Amino acid sequence: MHFSNSFVLGCLLTSAVGISSRTLLWLHGNVPNVTLTNSTTSMYQVSSDSEFSFILERALAASNGGGAATGEVLRAAAEIKAGDFESWYREFKFLEDQLHDMATSVDSKRFPVSAREQHFHASTYYRLASFFLHHNASDPRLEFMLDAQLADFHTAIKLLPQPGEVITLDTKHGFTVPAYFFPAQQKSDGCAPDRLPTVITGTGYDGTQEDLYHSVGVEVLACGWNFISYEGPGQSTVRQKQNIGFIPEWWEVVTPVVDYLETRNDVDMDRVALEGLSYGGLLAPLAATEEHRIAAVLAIDGFLNLQHLLDTEFPSDLIDLFKSGNRTAFNAAIQEVYNTPSIETAFRWAVDQGIWSFDTADAYDWYAKAGTIFLDEKKLQQIRCPVFVGSGQDDTVAGYGMPEQMARWLGDKAYYHLSKTNIGAGEHCAIGAEPQLSMVTLDWLADVFDGKTGNSKVSD
Ligand SMILES: *[C@@H]1O[C@H](CO)[C@@H](O)[C@H](O)[C@H]1NC(C)=O
Ligand SMILES: *[C@@H]1O[C@H](CO)[C@@H](O)[C@H](O)[C@H]1NC(C)=O
Ligand SMILES: *[C@@H]1O[C@H](CO)[C@@H](O)[C@H](O)[C@H]1NC(C)=O
Ligand SMILES: *[C@@H]1O[C@H](CO)[C@@H](O)[C@H](O)[C@H]1NC(C)=O
Repeated sequence: MHFSNSFVLGCLLTSAVGISSRTLLWLHGNVPNVTLTNSTTSMYQVSSDSEFSFILERALAASNGGGAATGEVLRAAAEIKAGDFESWYREFKFLEDQLHDMATSVDSKRFPVSAREQHFHASTYYRLASFFLHHNASDPRLEFMLDAQLADFHTAIKLLPQPGEVITLDTKHGFTVPAYFFPAQQKSDGCAPDRLPTVITGTGYDGTQEDLYHSVGVEVLACGWNFISYEGPGQSTVRQKQNIGFIPEWWEVVTPVVDYLETRNDVDMDRVALEGLSYGGLLAPLAATEEHRIAAVLAIDGFLNLQHLLDTEFPSDLIDLFKSGNRTAFNAAIQEVYNTPSIETAFRWAVDQGIWSFDTADAYDWYAKAGTIFLDEKKLQQIRCPVFVGSGQDDTVAGYGMPEQMARWLGDKAYYHLSKTNIGAGEHCAIGAEPQLSMVTLDWLADVFDGKTGNSKVSD
């Protein structure tokens, strides 16, 4: 069987044609048609392997929120061999061991800031080290790296001026939801705290909630609001510790988080927002179709259906095999492509991560399950609150017009924002330009919380 080498998951697409110069707009039926063409201009490539480059960009981006240091990441980038998962593991393992030793050698009572920063960085590098290890779910390094990254992260958040709280929430469905609550205000003796706006944030296909503290949490806290992150089935800790893959009933993950907020005396329940990043840009709106206690949803970036995305990116003969329903033939074909020496890292990673995160026996089940978690016009109409729909002008991972379609389907409930490449924000989820993303998302949220949602706000 011949597969073209145009496989492009994580490959590069430009969406520069026909976009309105108004990039911030309340929708009244006029979402721009975003046309995608191939381009490599979204960001400087720090590896000849486009998938490695993308994950390294994410590591560099973590530096914006105190999760890494650019020199440390670039040193690892210089040593990693393109396409070599073990070399990736070795370099980040080396870095993480060094930083962890540095962190534990600091007297954290005298120097809490130094200790905190090195623990945060070590935690990030543990997460990175295991990123390409999901081919074998029994690889003992997965469990070890997860425990190590959690331990460093927990140590670090206890050293924050307002320490983060580690929370485990029960659900009615046989799994628990790990969460972190970061209070915006100092607890003052005797006085009841103010009830403040609170942003719930969930990650996506391959991220962790620890990443979210650095990419979103620090910015939310800086505006004086509470921040809470969580993970559900399919995501890092829940998948690894509880062996559950992604589920279509995502509200069953979010509802316990909202229930928990109701128990706190520092949360204003009229001003609670739900944000999701990447695949979370599907999961958050999906939860909001059933969970109506939230005042606003943010989909960064709008994501509708993973199976449809894969249909676009996988070779068409593979898709035809899937559609024929011949499991054996489909799995054999996936394996054949997987074993092709010249196959892109992105393909191998997508298959490994897919089977692991959906907790399926094989690629066929993964592909099938991916199609059960989706948003369409009918589901989106069940959302009762305003929705911020983000899109990246040169999204190399998702995009494909999904955010624009989501915004069109939402109609007047949508607020669409296109992050631009020429100012470094055009990559998936505006990776690397987190302050720009925070500015537009949190300003919008402030308007929603202040009841100004009816005003048409357009900025050039
Ligand atoms: C987008 O494309 C569709 C179909 O090609 C067309 O009907 C519609 O008018 C276009 N919308 C805009 C805003 O250009
Ligand atoms: C993108 O690149 C692939 C592989 O080189 C090519 O087959 C395809 O036609 C290109 N698409 C566009 C829109 O240029
Ligand atoms: C997966 O890892 C375990 C533990 O190291 C090992 O025993 C097993 O053989 C590995 N399986 C495959 C398919 O490589
Ligand atoms: C599925 O494909 C295999 C080849 O991989 C073939 O031998 C088998 O007959 C096919 N099964 C059906 C039901 O078509």
